[in-house]
Amino acid sequence: MCGIVGIVRRRVGVARDLVKSLKKLEYRGYDSAGIALLSNGKIEVIKGVGTIDKVVGNLEGIGDGYAGIGHTRWATHGGVSPENAHPHLSCHGEVAVVHNGTLDDFEEMRSELMEKGHELKSETDTEVVAHLIEENLKDRDPFNAFVEAIRRLRGSYAIVSMMAGERALFLARNKSPLVIGLGDDGNYCASDVAALLHLTRRFIFLEDGEIAVLTPSKVEIWRFADGRLERVDRKADVIDWSPQLLDRGSFEHFMLKEIYEQPHVLKKIAESVDYYRKFSTKLDRMLEDGSLTIVAAGTSYHAGLIGKFLLSKLAGVRSEVLIASEFPEWSSHIKEGDVILAISQSGETADVLEAVRMARTKGARVISIVNVPGSTLTRMSDESVFIQAGPEVGVAATKTFTAQVAVLYVISSVMSGGNPSRELLKISDMLYGSMETFEHFAREVSDLFKEKEHVFFLGRGINYPTALEGALKLKEISYIHAEGYPAGEYKHGPLALIERGTPTVMLVPIDENLRRKALYNLMEVRSRGALTVTLQPEGADMPGDESLEVACTEELLSPLAYAVPLQLMAYRTAVLLGRNPDKPRNLAKSVTVE
Ligand code: F6R
Repeated sequence: MCGIVGIVRRRVGVARDLVKSLKKLEYRGYDSAGIALLSNGKIEVIKGVGTIDKVVGNLEGIGDGYAGIGHTRWATHGGVSPENAHPHLSCHGEVAVVHNGTLDDFEEMRSELMEKGHELKSETDTEVVAHLIEENLKDRDPFNAFVEAIRRLRGSYAIVSMMAGERALFLARNKSPLVIGLGDDGNYCASDVAALLHLTRRFIFLEDGEIAVLTPSKVEIWRFADGRLERVDRKADVIDWSPQLLDRGSFEHFMLKEIYEQPHVLKKIAESVDYYRKFSTKLDRMLEDGSLTIVAAGTSYHAGLIGKFLLSKLAGVRSEVLIASEFPEWSSHIKEGDVILAISQSGETADVLEAVRMARTKGARVISIVNVPGSTLTRMSDESVFIQAGPEVGVAATKTFTAQVAVLYVISSVMSGGNPSRELLKISDMLYGSMETFEHFAREVSDLFKEKEHVFFLGRGINYPTALEGALKLKEISYIHAEGYPAGEYKHGPLALIERGTPTVMLVPIDENLRRKALYNLMEVRSRGALTVTLQPEGADMPGDESLEVACTEELLSPLAYAVPLQLMAYRTAVLLGRNPDKPRNLAKSVTVE
């Protein structure tokens, strides 16, 4: 995944902004970090293992420059070590490179370079790029040396390079995101817009196969066409996210802040029904000629499952939901005219993009539900709609899950002539008024979870995916093993895992018929000694060691009502166990590798 950033300016003084930008990207990976600065024609590198704060600290004793590149790493090739941290330098320190992605055939290039006398110091694939450029510089100018190096590469990459004596940044992109920011006294680039919002709101999104050169006053973009380079003209997009959205404010973690933003996000969606109506009408028309497959990963996949339920219940639309990484093996039936609905917060998840590419080659049409404007998925789709949740920094998806579900609800409802706004506003109001109660409950439950090894989450119907999501939140940030299950399926095997004291969370249906069945399932686990935690509608009176009444009367909106206390339960458990919920181990926010 990794985060990369670059700044080139007319005057010296990029270090502080470089580090500030890099910190905004820490959610993409945080096992090592580094920066390279160009001043007086020379490149200076500071890098190491640990967070950006640990590696570059407060910049004391570190010089400054008129250009700089930075990197925060999520290891792929090569372990976590100071040598493997980026930026990587060429033998004579004249070329510095940062990279996000994975390169194929790098072992071969490495041997070739070593035969030519290059000394490579790390185990990474990235380092070969610095040496390739250096080799090319023997008989080419810097631009052509860079272009020739990129021409050799296969795999996925977003690369930014700096060369001694050149007040310029050299960029290349293939299957890993890279955005250019346009400023008044310089130009910028980064893995995503969030890193640059404190510097500019004007962005150009590089496409696969493109190369760019940034100087303080110019941005030039080229594309390979039939092996030759041709210039590309591109207009800038203005992104209206405010940089304040990237501040934690008084919240202890981004995750908590983002959980609290949910009532506001749902209100915004409720007030934008006309915007979603247009998308819904297009989807409806597209479905006249083909079948619908929803594709997504992780939390977005759970939202996709809820979407399938809503589309079926409200609009009578039949669909299937495929996990993006499994799409290639499960999609032989997809044919020309079929419709792929891709759901992704980041719009950069490699598995989702690959599924979309594959579907396109079969002639399928692609529509997407995305959070990040300008992201790759939006540019690969025939139509996109935004969930308007604003930037999400916490690695665990929270507000974007409920926003995805709310948008799917609105789309399904308007397809059947419904008016979703009123019901959605009711949920938003209920959440505004319930946060304190949810918090209190989450703290009690976290006390119960904190010493347990396993927690099970059960739901029925539309809340079966909510149970999956509750389990995912808990396991990814607290590291307690958690499983979500359809409540009725539990007795077909997993019930064997229940022992005295095993916590089991039941998402109680609002529908009375379903609730009766859920009660049997609850009794099955209670009679085997499970500790039960119930989230239930007001007046349901289901037995539980811990119970929370949630004022929601609409079964189809109950995932929104239940998701918030589930997120808080996971959050409070992680905090109680001393884990940092914003940076869970081994994970990163944007998963740009397959
Ligand atoms: C879990 C989580 C991940 C993402 C998944 C897909 O909390 O955030 O499971 O949902 O990596 O990411 P997007 O939605 O960006 O495609």
